[in-house]
Amino acid sequence: MDIRARLRSSGVEALGPRIAERQPRRKPLPLGHWGLAVTGTGQVRANGVVLEELIETHGSPLHVVLGSRLASNIEEAMAPAKDGTGADVFYSYKTNPIPGVLEQLHEGGVGAEVISEYEFWLARELGVPGDRIIYNGPAKSPESIAEAIRQNTLLINANSVSDLMMIAEQAAQVGKAANAGIRVALPGGWAGQFGLGWDTSEFLQMVRYAIDSSDLNLIGLHSHRGITMRTRDDAIPYVDTVLDFADSVHRETNWYPEILDLGGSLGCPTSAGIPAMQYRLNRALATDVLPPDPTDCIRVGEFAREAHQRCEQRARQKGLPAPRVVLEPGRALTADTQLLLTSILDLKTDGQLPHAIVDAGVNIAESVTNEYHQIVPLADPHGPADSSYRIAGPICTPADVLYNNWRLPEPQVGDVLAIMDTGAYCVPFSTSFSFPRPAIVRVDDGEATVLRRAETFQDLVLRDEVRPRGVIDLNDLENADDDQGAQRDSEGRDGAEGRDGVDEEVQR
Ligand SMILES: Cc1ncc(COP(=O)(O)O)c(C=O)c1O
Repeated sequence: MDIRARLRSSGVEALGPRIAERQPRRKPLPLGHWGLAVTGTGQVRANGVVLEELIETHGSPLHVVLGSRLASNIEEAMAPAKDGTGADVFYSYKTNPIPGVLEQLHEGGVGAEVISEYEFWLARELGVPGDRIIYNGPAKSPESIAEAIRQNTLLINANSVSDLMMIAEQAAQVGKAANAGIRVALPGGWAGQFGLGWDTSEFLQMVRYAIDSSDLNLIGLHSHRGITMRTRDDAIPYVDTVLDFADSVHRETNWYPEILDLGGSLGCPTSAGIPAMQYRLNRALATDVLPPDPTDCIRVGEFAREAHQRCEQRARQKGLPAPRVVLEPGRALTADTQLLLTSILDLKTDGQLPHAIVDAGVNIAESVTNEYHQIVPLADPHGPADSSYRIAGPICTPADVLYNNWRLPEPQVGDVLAIMDTGAYCVPFSTSFSFPRPAIVRVDDGEATVLRRAETFQDLVLRDEVRPRGVIDLNDLENADDDQGAQRDSEGRDGAEGRDGVDEEVQR
């Protein structure tokens, strides 16, 4: 070790504990935030269901959707749109594309914001009419755009000049003008492949081109900040920035949007990115990561109402009809409507920092690595959290660490932990890296309903053309009772063997 490194490390050794001592300790958020309750016998219940018992029935790890929390989030978000005082809401499918969750959102009146051909298809299959769909994304296929035009999709937002040209081309082929919008990349937000720079001449050129095109019905201005707007003080100036930009476009082109699409990027009350310094201290000195203040987070409905009012006010000042405001929230609608149950597989106390190895890691909860997600230890939810553990996932890589340091009541192998606020970006970012993905159940009114069964080993190889002997394919499953189908088995297995295989695999 060179002298500078030695000085640095001795400095850390000397100063580290003193710095660590001064850092605040985590005060966990009350379980009532998620509607969880602890029974007299110490069991944690969600909507009347004992969480630990779910693991016995459905296996571990397990995603649990909190049905009543989802219902109340939907109600809060949609109330202004329903009484005509606020923006309309379109859920960002990519955030948590579980059909059982999407169905509940749509039943509550929420529309669909989709970014791919698959998501567009899924929305249509779930019965969402075109006029409740917004189609975004930098990789929209021409075929799906043609279909979106045929289905009278509310808004198809272009990200680039060629994207807009492609939408116009498809509209010409379909013989119907597309309801188009143009995405702008405003300062301080996502840019790159998303939208056109607000300070470029391209944006105005595109507007002029679209106004003149009979294939485009240019109605929308789209902006999605990308960087989370947690507080009112962060979110409201963003609305004004978008309105200022709309004004400047109007000055140059005389065009003003009929639909102002403000995107997503609102926060979750109980979960948030870990501030950089806190993250570093947690890594270096095993200090606590701290919960966000749930009361400082602007809710979707609140933002919907205020955005709508500001937009009306601005249009009135300009003597223009007020645009219809639409939002595309993801995490703000569903993050706190789901938790992830994970079991402790091993406790390893031979190193400097004790490790708790759990069965959920970056394979199914990657976003937990850099956000505050409270852990509720189900065995002792209110016990003194005096034992510091690094919570490591099951994947064979040092990168599979969910929390560098989290204080728990003295854990035991087999204990179940509930990781909160996993209803945004955990399921869609999941992989089957070495382990099949878990089941998803919804709890409501004392009952658990399976929304998605757990992946099986067979699921992981079913699409392979070269696969282990004995794994049948889905067509064989459909034709299992059909002698002809059995004879068509391209691998030449006889019908009886195939049928045995089916029964064996299905039971697994
Ligand atoms: C265009 C668009 N709209 C909405 C969302 C949802 O964002 P959030 O979950 O931050 O609300 C995203 C997410 O990346 C997006 O890209």
